[in-house]
Amino acid sequence: MAAIRFSVADPQKASAKRTQCAVLPVGNTLRLSDAGRALEKDSSGVLAAALKAGEFKGNVGETMLVHSPGTAERILLVGVGDGKLARDGYLKMSRTLARALLSSKASDAQMHMGSLKVNSSDWDWLCQRIATDLVYHGYRYALTLSNPKPAPALSRFVLLTADTALARRAKSALNRGSKAGTGINLARELANTPANYCTPEHLAKEARKLARGNDKASCKVLNEKTMAELGMHSLLSVTAGTATPAKLIVLEYKGGKRGDAPHVLVGKGITFDSGGISLKPGAKMDEMKFDMGGAASVLGTMQAVMDMALPLNIVAIIAAAENMPSGTATKPGDVVTSMAGITIEVLNTDAEGRLVLCDALTYAERFKPASVVDIATLTGACVVALGSHASGLYANDEKLAAQLLDAGTTSHDRAWRMPLWDDYQRQLDSNFADMGNIGGPGGGSVTAACFLSRFATKYNWAHLDIAGSAWDSAPKGATGRPVGLLTQYLCDRASAA
Ligand code: BES
Ligand code: MN
Ligand code: ZN
Repeated sequence: MAAIRFSVADPQKASAKRTQCAVLPVGNTLRLSDAGRALEKDSSGVLAAALKAGEFKGNVGETMLVHSPGTAERILLVGVGDGKLARDGYLKMSRTLARALLSSKASDAQMHMGSLKVNSSDWDWLCQRIATDLVYHGYRYALTLSNPKPAPALSRFVLLTADTALARRAKSALNRGSKAGTGINLARELANTPANYCTPEHLAKEARKLARGNDKASCKVLNEKTMAELGMHSLLSVTAGTATPAKLIVLEYKGGKRGDAPHVLVGKGITFDSGGISLKPGAKMDEMKFDMGGAASVLGTMQAVMDMALPLNIVAIIAAAENMPSGTATKPGDVVTSMAGITIEVLNTDAEGRLVLCDALTYAERFKPASVVDIATLTGACVVALGSHASGLYANDEKLAAQLLDAGTTSHDRAWRMPLWDDYQRQLDSNFADMGNIGGPGGGSVTAACFLSRFATKYNWAHLDIAGSAWDSAPKGATGRPVGLLTQYLCDRASAA
């Protein structure tokens, strides 16, 4: 996919006149701004005629593409209502703008502010959003298609403003937004990749590739033998039934000061979840190729923050394995010993995410982290509780929880806080091990988080259950969530430092 180059220019400059598409925000009075009048004059009457036709009313969420014989070959009208939008209005405007522009054949575009009024406090956010949306909506899955949908033509997007201070801010916000979008799209591509291509080794290759592209990054991949030596028998119990070797992937980025405690991201990387001996029903089982969505979001986030050169130390840990039934597979009732020494009765082999994550969480201790956030398509119960709009957030630290909720709001990649009360912990009691791996019928997302919490006692920790948010079922495809949230969270940590 060719990248879009983003820049900012002064609308008075001659180079800011000739374009394949002028983007013009217009309000519901249909009165033109100065920039609009200039475009109208240049368009030999087609803009005036288009506005008069009455098909475009200027409401938020509306767009109309007008072809013009003038110096702008196209004019994309974007509705902005009364011109004074709140964040949800901007979101709608930005999304429709991106979709309409990308479905045209324009390879370059110049956006005027037109009738859109933007508060100074929303300016950077909006610029960032527009860039992310343009990159996000330009993604096309192609890997295993003979005739993939062509990628959009857009290769250059110029934001026009005469204000030099706003221009400077826009430049860095567009840059950040574009990099976040690219990270989101990497996560989508990895999660969309079928499980016979996207194996644990494939995820390891992608992590090594990211490390090779950045001199502050390094990657280490632990094989099953090393994991056994470390005592990761909980993780290894998940991979027992498959011929595809599991990997523990560790990608380190040292953008911060030497000795700064790192932020750790831990991703569930089940490249296919058949359920194992506790086999899943056949319907929609294909969607369990998305069960590495947590790992994909960790790699997407790493790409984004490394591209942004954030001055932070960050460690990504991915527990990658395939969950399959076979004669060598773990059986319900088997007891395994985790790296932490806690014994676990595997009552259901389909509750495998927590079994790989617990050992990864123990491994994370060695980094003496400032925070650990794990990301996992962990439970169907979370989909029942929250649907697809919010990821479930659990945390043992109030400040970390607030930071993640904030980042989710800013990036519109939202999470909702869920309880980690002690009352739920009893549901994990077992007669034959220190704990069972399932918590019975009620509160399945909570008891899964409670399971993880027992391995996250040595640091500030949060868990994002993204079972509902990581992919859409119709049309089928990965969303790249929560890369937006995580990238924003790390950007916020960098600017707070
Ligand atoms: N990967 C699934 C969770 C999942 C299910 C995500 C549906 C998205 C949609 C996870 O490994 C799993 O199978 N969880 C079980 C746990 C149960 C056995 C306690 C579940 O949610 O049914
Ligand atoms: Mn499962
Ligand atoms: Zn799973």
